[in-house]
Amino acid sequence: MKKHNFGAGPGILPEEALRKSAQAVLDLNGTGLSLLEISHRSKDFDAILQKAKSLVRELLGVPENYSILFLQGGASTQFAMVPYNLLPVDGKAAYIESGVWANKAIKEAKMVGNTEVLATSKDKNFSYIPKNFSIPADAAYLHVTSNNTIYGTQMKSYPDSPIPVVCDMSSDIFSKPVDVSKFDLIYAGAQKNMGPAGVTLVIIKNDICGKVNRTIPTMLNYQTHIEGDSLYNTPPVFPIYVCMATLEWLQSIGGVPAITKINQKKLQCSMLKLIVILCLLEPLQLKTVQK
Ligand SMILES: Cc1ncc(COP(=O)(O)O)c(C=O)c1O
Repeated sequence: MKKHNFGAGPGILPEEALRKSAQAVLDLNGTGLSLLEISHRSKDFDAILQKAKSLVRELLGVPENYSILFLQGGASTQFAMVPYNLLPVDGKAAYIESGVWANKAIKEAKMVGNTEVLATSKDKNFSYIPKNFSIPADAAYLHVTSNNTIYGTQMKSYPDSPIPVVCDMSSDIFSKPVDVSKFDLIYAGAQKNMGPAGVTLVIIKNDICGKVNRTIPTMLNYQTHIEGDSLYNTPPVFPIYVCMATLEWLQSIGGVPAITKINQKKLQCSMLKLIVILCLLEPLQLKTVQK
């Protein structure tokens, strides 16, 4: 029997996606070869990559002027890629410090250039989302974290920003609808909501690249991956396949609105259980005190 996994990630994947992926490892679509044995430049793999990209575009409503990339190095590599590509040598970047992952993103940005922390919730152990900050119009971008994995705080709305917004959506992507056009760059490690570890989804507005006056190492340059269609180097074919299969499943159940409803039901159920537990504990505590 399948067990529950209450960990923040890697998360449970749909059984259909796991079975389909297991079969692809043994024999991809009757080709007589494993997914792991074919060329990443073959027609068979190209079909998988294009399908995965078109599912991301459809399910999140990604506008045409954005590229969808499947990269390696986890969301943690994005902490460095974002400032490398978007923070000009003589410019500054703005960050909201809402948890440990935001803190790590800030640390990387500081290594690259001038980084301003506009607001932090560190004073109360990241138990709230910082609000009431003003966004400097001369900063190159604003970086936010949509969901703070360890602390369980989530942004319910996003600030109206005069500058490009970059969002780490690693822990809530595909869990609720999102207006992609409000962001210039979204990134997410796949392992919580869309596949296994080993691939990172990047959704990037095409015209934000190529504006900084610094030399960017080839693999850290978004332009490399936009031009190479995520195939500049050998891509992580298995994680991309599992993402495709998981997103096919998501599409089959009704897409993001359907999973949002399921998530809300799970939340209501957990709240109900918590209330029952608290009600049961109350008399027990009274008895202990009376003793
Ligand atoms: C919000 C958030 N950002 C970034 C990361 C780091 O992701 P990765 O392990 O893919 O580098 C995590 C991992 O849990 C996360 O929850």
